[in-house]
Amino acid sequence: MEDPGKTSQTPQMITESKPCRGCGQTFDICAPMNANGTYARILFRQEFCQPCIDRQLHEREETDHQVRAASLIFRRQEMLANSGIPPKFLTDSERLDGFQDTGNEKTYATILEYARAFPSMERPTGYPSLLVYGRNNGVGKTRLVCGIIRHLLESWSRDNRHQSPYLFLAMPDLRLQLQMGLRFQAERTAEMVYADCKLAWLLVLDDVGKEGLYRADDAEVYFKLINDRYNQQLPTIVTSNLAPDKPWVKGGLCLADIMGLATMSRLKEMCQSRVVEVRGEDRRG
Ligand SMILES: Nc1ncnc2c1ncn2[C@@H]1O[C@H](COP(=O)(O)OP(=O)(O)OP(=O)(O)O)[C@@H](O)[C@H]1O
Ligand SMILES: [Mg+2]
Ligand SMILES: [Zn+2]
Repeated sequence: MEDPGKTSQTPQMITESKPCRGCGQTFDICAPMNANGTYARILFRQEFCQPCIDRQLHEREETDHQVRAASLIFRRQEMLANSGIPPKFLTDSERLDGFQDTGNEKTYATILEYARAFPSMERPTGYPSLLVYGRNNGVGKTRLVCGIIRHLLESWSRDNRHQSPYLFLAMPDLRLQLQMGLRFQAERTAEMVYADCKLAWLLVLDDVGKEGLYRADDAEVYFKLINDRYNQQLPTIVTSNLAPDKPWVKGGLCLADIMGLATMSRLKEMCQSRVVEVRGEDRRG
């Protein structure tokens, strides 16, 4: 039943024709007339026809999309540049997917799987660590682990960061940075260097125990770093020319000798059996 208090009336419409400022074609604007015979003049201020308005909106969306895509490419490059990866391993030929190596198929498969399954763009809490070792120099250890960070940053899909959350650092450089950081008026204090390593979502520590050099205070750095990252449940990748527990030659050193037993124990748990060897001859020769 109709409500007697309500009067249902279709408002009378008023139409005005004018040329579109965009395409010049004449278009109509309609507005409802009020009961007192007036109408909202504001509705007639429209200067473009509907197709022109739609086109403008579409063009604006396209431009926004292009700006976002360009900004993302820029961010990725920025993060790659400040990730610590040496420029040599940022060249086209060094990409992880392009790798092939007869004799190391299983190792390559493990590393590729590790990179692909890595939780991207979020704190990788609890994701496994990785230990990559190989007796010979020049077999591709550094190239492989840099490839993991590249894989992660090259597929980064948000333009919300400048600083890479993944950090590559060779142990001799870390040692130097920590020493420099202890100097009075150092640009980056030892605490700042250490904090970057401790908090990185992924830390790649290359060349651990290089040339079998052993420094008493290195073991302390390894323990502090690995123990902190173990407690924070953050993944760490370690590469070395030394085997984990058994020296290559009698009387030589293994990684456990350099890093310490407590550190190795934690690292092994973190790796969840992802301990891989890279075999072969020196490719630099
Ligand atoms: N699968 C591959 N195919 C072709 N070239 C490779 C491959 N892996 C590595 N290389 C090349 O071999 C050289 C040595 O690689 P890389 O520096 O990664 O070795 P490494 O094992 O880290 O050596 P070191 O123990 O001395 O640090 C580099 O020039 C690299 O580009
Ligand atoms: Mg190397
Ligand atoms: Zn128009």
